[in-house]
Amino acid sequence: MRYLVTGGAGFIGGAIAKRLLEDGNEVYIIDNFKTGYKFNIPKKAIFIEGDFSKNSTIEKLNGVEFDTIFHIGGQSSGEISFEEPEYDLNTNTLSTLKLLQYAQKTDCKKFIYASTMSVYGEEKSKEQFSEDDKTNPKSFYAVGKLASEKYLDIFSKEYGIDYTALRYFNVYGVGQNLENLKQGMVSIYLKQFFDKSFKEIEVKGSLERFRDLIYIDDIVDITIEASKDSNFKNQILNIGTGKKTTVKDILKLIKTQSKIDKKIVVTNGTKGDQFGIYANNSKLKSIYKKELISFEDGLKKMIEWINVKYNS
Ligand SMILES: NC(=O)c1ccc[n+]([C@@H]2O[C@H](COP(=O)([O-])OP(=O)(O)OC[C@H]3O[C@@H](n4cnc5c(N)ncnc54)[C@H](O)[C@@H]3O)[C@@H](O)[C@H]2O)c1
Repeated sequence: MRYLVTGGAGFIGGAIAKRLLEDGNEVYIIDNFKTGYKFNIPKKAIFIEGDFSKNSTIEKLNGVEFDTIFHIGGQSSGEISFEEPEYDLNTNTLSTLKLLQYAQKTDCKKFIYASTMSVYGEEKSKEQFSEDDKTNPKSFYAVGKLASEKYLDIFSKEYGIDYTALRYFNVYGVGQNLENLKQGMVSIYLKQFFDKSFKEIEVKGSLERFRDLIYIDDIVDITIEASKDSNFKNQILNIGTGKKTTVKDILKLIKTQSKIDKKIVVTNGTKGDQFGIYANNSKLKSIYKKELISFEDGLKKMIEWINVKYNS
């Protein structure tokens, strides 16, 4: 099979591309290295460098036909969407439209999209969200992702392109970019724990905030499964564990597992940050039967990886 994976120089896209290649497929990647790295691009992939919201980049695909387009690349920080709202809009929404048009033109019938739990925003005294709940984006990032979901829906109804919008909760794991201190709660804290130039750990916002943390290997499995299993067809799905972990618990577990102790300093929260929501994942569980990796086990794998990274 032949696949396009956007954002293949990034954390999630790179891991998906790697798995697809290991399974013997042909994989094209588009990335502009905005937050991605060359070392994430698997050697066997066919790489196109450029911004996927631009016609000049899409044209470089030369009309190649794909069995599925995995649109994983994007701008993934709520905070940055306030600093660069136009870039966010182009990267997270215009790109979806362009790639859907490419799918239509080349007769690609399957489109898998990396959406986000941020589309739910927040609601007073409600912590757990299911796909039927109302969306209420609090950042430009979330607005752009939600708009992309709507484009998918219309393209499926009007042009017969099947889609799956995966509302990823908080993804963490081996391979995550530790240098981006604006995205990824677990990686941000791990960086500050392990990097000796950080004398203390800065937590932007309350220690009582919480996240639904899902390990990268589960994300890769589910995302690829979505392209194969017809139960995922034309669905929006929460991709989370259904468990909440507070910032305090994350820090405590990092401290225990890493055996590193630093002072925690709590500062003001960032714009558009959610206090906490977690997934009602019963829709996912009804079609995906594999057990998800616990935070304890996932963190252990990540710390082993970081130990090698920092000590070699
Ligand atoms: N990591 C998470 O916890 C999380 C949670 C919810 C949703 N998501 C979504 O999953 C996707 C992947 O996230 P990630 O954690 O791998 O982020 P990442 O920053 O590691 O990867 C994104 C990749 O997209 C590339 N990219 C960005 N804009 C581009 C453009 N205009 N043209 C070409 N390439 C571009 C970047 O260079 C990078 O390689 C994103 O769309 C994000 O919104 C991630």
